Amino acid sequence: MPAQRKLFVTTALPYANGKFHIGHIMEYIQADIWVRFQRMQGNQVHFVCADDAHGAPIMIAAEKAGKTPQQFVAEIAAGRKPYLEGFHIGFDNWHSTDAPENHQLAQQIYRDLKANGLISSKVVEQFFDPEKNMFLPDRFIKGECPNCHAKDQFGDNCEVCSKVYSPTDLINPYSALSGATPVLKSSEHFFFKLSDPRCLAFLQQWTRSEGRLQSEVLNKISEWLAPDESGKTVLGDWDISRDAPYFGIEIPDAPGKYFYVWLDAPVGYLASLKNYLDRIGVDYESYVAAFNEVEQYHFIGKDIITFHTLFWPAMLHFSGRKVPTKIFVHGFLTVNNGEKMSKSRGTGLDPLKYLSLGMNPEWLRYYLAAKLSGRNEDIDFNPDDFIARVNSDLIGKYVNIASRTAGFISKRFGGKLGKEDPGAEAMLDAAVAAANEVKALYEAREFAKAIRTIMALADQANLYVDQKAPWLIAKDSSRDAELHMVCTTAIGLFKNLTVMLAPILPSVAREVGKWLAADVHEWDNCYVKLAEGHEINPYKHLMQRVEEKQIDALFEPAGEVPPPLPSPKGGGSEYPGGEEIAPVISIDDFTKIDLRIAKIVNCEAVEGSTKLLRLTLDVGEGKTRNVFSGIASAYKPEDLVGKLTVMVANLAPRKMKFGVSEGMVLAASDRDEKSAPGIYVLNPWPGAQPGMRVR
Ligand code: MSP
Ligand code: ZN
Repeated sequence: MPAQRKLFVTTALPYANGKFHIGHIMEYIQADIWVRFQRMQGNQVHFVCADDAHGAPIMIAAEKAGKTPQQFVAEIAAGRKPYLEGFHIGFDNWHSTDAPENHQLAQQIYRDLKANGLISSKVVEQFFDPEKNMFLPDRFIKGECPNCHAKDQFGDNCEVCSKVYSPTDLINPYSALSGATPVLKSSEHFFFKLSDPRCLAFLQQWTRSEGRLQSEVLNKISEWLAPDESGKTVLGDWDISRDAPYFGIEIPDAPGKYFYVWLDAPVGYLASLKNYLDRIGVDYESYVAAFNEVEQYHFIGKDIITFHTLFWPAMLHFSGRKVPTKIFVHGFLTVNNGEKMSKSRGTGLDPLKYLSLGMNPEWLRYYLAAKLSGRNEDIDFNPDDFIARVNSDLIGKYVNIASRTAGFISKRFGGKLGKEDPGAEAMLDAAVAAANEVKALYEAREFAKAIRTIMALADQANLYVDQKAPWLIAKDSSRDAELHMVCTTAIGLFKNLTVMLAPILPSVAREVGKWLAADVHEWDNCYVKLAEGHEINPYKHLMQRVEEKQIDALFEPAGEVPPPLPSPKGGGSEYPGGEEIAPVISIDDFTKIDLRIAKIVNCEAVEGSTKLLRLTLDVGEGKTRNVFSGIASAYKPEDLVGKLTVMVANLAPRKMKFGVSEGMVLAASDRDEKSAPGIYVLNPWPGAQPGMRVR
């Protein structure tokens, strides 16, 4: 076996100012497939990410939400898990750039750069918001375009005529935060001296060294490095400081100055690695000291190339650290060609909605893999294409091989495999050749080509099954040996296909591994045959087809009700609880309902009503609420006093004959009182406290 490689792999750190969108998920899936492939080769991989917590936009968003930046980013971080688990994305660690490791590492890197003579300072004049008492980032200054006179344009470029300018060129500038007219104010800024000849020399060598960057990426950045007639390059010194108030990391020995977010963001790769290694008991210092053995890869999108191919390698190199081995740049994912959608097909693809509709995450992994190459190219999610790839290729070709042959092995041969078909030698040789080819394609992130090769082999296997027609052989009991051989051969090929697809379909592969009682998570098992007499387990169907109506529901614009899912035929009694399950809603719809634990501090009968009880509820607001509930037939008031229950806390108050009801208490009942009598008020497990949200 070749020596085990040691890989350190990251994806870009997403800004902690919003939920993941489908572009993030695509990047994680791309990297996750590559990482799983590397692990199948026996390589050691540390695969980490983190939230990019700092910067003015996040600070401002937090302020708007009435939260501290720390609270704000913690809430975003808490929402990451369902996406990552849902799409089978297996990061070893998820951290934050605001974590202590990152503060220490960023400050140390800065000190090292400074000691190396690569930090300078100079006084800069910038727009300042006199009401907010802060310097304004370009994005927060607006005004009239100096070129085409369009109103309300951003401080860096005009969205109408595309002219690029600086904020001071705007006519009648104003602060987007306060509306105030900004004033020019000077302040000392720190710079990373990228114009230093050492930096230029290093970057020219680093970016051009063999295999470091994709050729199209190298082309893109070469303008930054090409000297003009005077021998100078466009690469100027990089302003790495911001003035307080700023959510970021303090610059050592410079009170009131913080690192610009893009200085500490990539350091977050190392901080997350350190945090992970600490957790698994590996010494970070020794791991990085052996950095010439470690390969370091960053998966990123095309919009952040300069940060990763110029600034970041220079920061690492001139602070005496190991530089990245390769930067893997992908293009952007658009949905429906980025159309601003017709009514029927919505506006985007919400990853959580996809999951909440019960759509299989491995459909998406397969579909994206079938489109991804090793180049910086945009790809488009096309719904019809998605249905075709999943149903015709994944199910129709791959799963089909197993579902057409598995039953015979268990029913006719006691679950034991037989001999392989000597007449299928050419196809079995092709499988070995395919495994070699696909391995090279995965390594080069040519996933689409890998899938094409895998599916070509699946085509051969299906053709073989078609020609042999085991369902016909099975009718003639004198041909058992042949039936056994054909099914064994097909299942052997299916096992190989599964090994090759395992990086893309981890959960399907796990199921196949259980079914075949075989290891499908080691690449070299592509070259190992299942032995004659090997016993396999009964086959369970591996994957459903995508249904058109799922896609329709996925792209249903938010706010409109998607069509109800199929319901049992016949009378109402067939439904659970006597009524049909309501139409599917998204998680966003659900979170609109604010459910809280409420303490029933008082409860009394309502004069003039046999149905209602009047409840006085405490949901931790410092005042109580009055709620009427139709539960008088089931509970005596004294039974409820002091108990906890669940209430809808954001229901519009309702004026009733007996007074205003300020919410609703949750209770269970069958629709048909006769088939299951009773009303049951919800009661949380011990430990819940009034005011806690139920989600
Ligand atoms: N916080 C920075 C990265 C810091 S890395 C030290 C950032 N965050 S981001 O949330 O805006 O983007 C995170 C990643 O998602 C980037 O690699 C970006 O290119 C990628 N994508 C954003 N939109 C995308 C698509 N529509 N399609 C594919 N990837 C996309 O940039
Ligand atoms: Zn303009």
